[in-house]
Amino acid sequence: MDRYAVIGNPVEHSKSPLIHAEFARQTGQAMEYGRILAPIGGFEDSIEQFRAEGGRGVNVTVPFKEDAYQYATARTALAELAHAVNTLHFLPDGEVLGDTTDGLGLVRDITVNLGVDLTGKHILLMGAGGAARGVIQPLLDARPASLFVVNRTADKALALCEAFSGIAAGGYDDLQGCAFDVVINATASSLNNDLPPLPDSIFRPGALAYDMMYGRDTPFMQFARTHGADRVADGLGMLVEQAAESFLIWRGMRPNTAPVLARFRAA
Ligand code: ATR
Repeated sequence: MDRYAVIGNPVEHSKSPLIHAEFARQTGQAMEYGRILAPIGGFEDSIEQFRAEGGRGVNVTVPFKEDAYQYATARTALAELAHAVNTLHFLPDGEVLGDTTDGLGLVRDITVNLGVDLTGKHILLMGAGGAARGVIQPLLDARPASLFVVNRTADKALALCEAFSGIAAGGYDDLQGCAFDVVINATASSLNNDLPPLPDSIFRPGALAYDMMYGRDTPFMQFARTHGADRVADGLGMLVEQAAESFLIWRGMRPNTAPVLARFRAA
C-alpha cells in the first residue's frame, strides 16, 4: 500500500482522508491516506519519520505551508509565486517536489462546478495572507478583465503588486463606487464570524460571491444574498478540487470529483 497523509496542527477536523479514500476507491488505486498531527516547530521531524516509514506524499495544511515550501527540494512555478506548498511528493530519487493546488482547485470549482467563466470578468479578492496569495496566479491565468486585491491592512495588499504583475490593490475605502462580477473571500474574517467592510453596491448584476471557508453560512455569504449577488458559494468544492489536483500529482490520474462533492454536500 502506498501511504499518504495530511499534516497539520490541528488536523483531526480535516476531510482530506475521506476525500482521498473516495478517490482511491473510484480509481482502484492501492493507497492509504491518514492524518499526521505535527507539533508546532516539529514539521520536519514528522515528515522525516513519515518518509522513513515509506510515505509517498503529503498534503500540508495550517500552519505548515511555509515549512513545506522550505522543505521541498524542487518547487513548481505556482508554488514559488504562492510562497507556499500544500502538496509534497517524495520521489524515488530522494527529490521532494513541492506544489500548491489551492488556486487551481478554486478556479476549477468556479469555472467547472459552478459554471462561471472568469474570462473578461472583474474579480475582487479579499485578503492578503497566505490563503489569498496562493490563489492569485491561477485567477490571473483565467484571464479576467481585472483582479483587485483588497485588504484591511492596505499595505499588505499593495506589497503583493510587486510579486504579481496584472493585479491592482488597496484598502476597503478604495472600493467606494466599484462593483465586481466575482467577489472571493480569502480572509480569516469568517472564522470570527466577522464581515469585511464591503460597500453595499459591491456586486454587479449576475455576480458570484465565493467564500473559501466551508461548513458554515458565513456573514459574507449572508451579506451577499441580501446585497445583490446572483450566486453564493462556499469553499467545499475548492477543497475537493484541490485534493483532486494533489491526487493527480501523486497518482498520474485525475479522479471524477462530481460524485464526491455531491456526497459531501448531502452529508
Ligand atoms: P491565511 O493564511 O488564512 O491567509 P493570515 O495570513 O493570517 O491567514 O491572513 C489573514 C487575512 O485575513 C489577512 O488578510 C487579514 O487582514 P489583515 O492583514 O489586515 O490582518 C484578513 N482578516 C482577518 N480578519 C478580518 C476581518 N475581520 N475583516 C477583514 N479582513 C480580515
